[in-house]
Amino acid sequence: MKGFFIAANWKMNKTNSEATDFVKALKPLIENTTSTVILCPSFLAIPILKGMSIKKLKIGAQNLHEKPRGTFTGEISGEMLFDAGVQYVLVGHSERRHIFGESDQTVAKKLAAAIENKLVPILCIGETYSQKVAGETESVLKNQLGVALSEVVGGTEFLVAYEPVWAISSGDPNQPKLTPTATEIGDIHKFIKELLKNNGHKNINILYGGSANDKNCVEFSKIDGVDGFLIGGASLDKERFASMINSLE
Ligand code: PGA
Repeated sequence: MKGFFIAANWKMNKTNSEATDFVKALKPLIENTTSTVILCPSFLAIPILKGMSIKKLKIGAQNLHEKPRGTFTGEISGEMLFDAGVQYVLVGHSERRHIFGESDQTVAKKLAAAIENKLVPILCIGETYSQKVAGETESVLKNQLGVALSEVVGGTEFLVAYEPVWAISSGDPNQPKLTPTATEIGDIHKFIKELLKNNGHKNINILYGGSANDKNCVEFSKIDGVDGFLIGGASLDKERFASMINSLE
């Protein structure tokens, strides 16, 4: 049994009562999992889900601010997340990079803030479709990783999520996305592992994300170098999410 990491990125979905109902229903469905299951709900739902004390669920946040405190209206610090019992935090998700304009340098600062506050960062990297078509995938990933990890010492705990931007679903079922082939995923994960190793980061788990669902996750989980999944759309449905978790045992 491998022990995968399965992280749900709920994005801007689920009210507190919807999140509570989801977790209540999910609990009996995943009792036997040996995977690490991480839920990243809205900030508002974090204390509520923490309060439910579900042993099999770890709680993650979707974002944090790079500064510890100050005049940053609307932002949440790493210290606040740690204090609320958060264990993981997404850093550099492509929606943060492309919709909210986070640069590689901002991502690096957020990563450092997460580590400083004893949160395990899930560093998201991935190329856009035009970068892929231009043959720039490897250089983009190398640069994203290089900048983000420039100050991170070997032995630090973090996860990487490889999410090709062109494969991330829009939430609109009428706009299905492309997904990479198993061979493409395998090649990229191998490339990322090598890069990490050469920079002193050994045994880092790499998740695949981008339209991962109950139909493709078993096939993808068999790829060497795939240590789990970061799941958006398919994590919003409890049966689908539970079926993914249980199919990866
Ligand atoms: P998706 O999203 O599974 O809906 O494609 C993944 C993500 O954005 O993390």
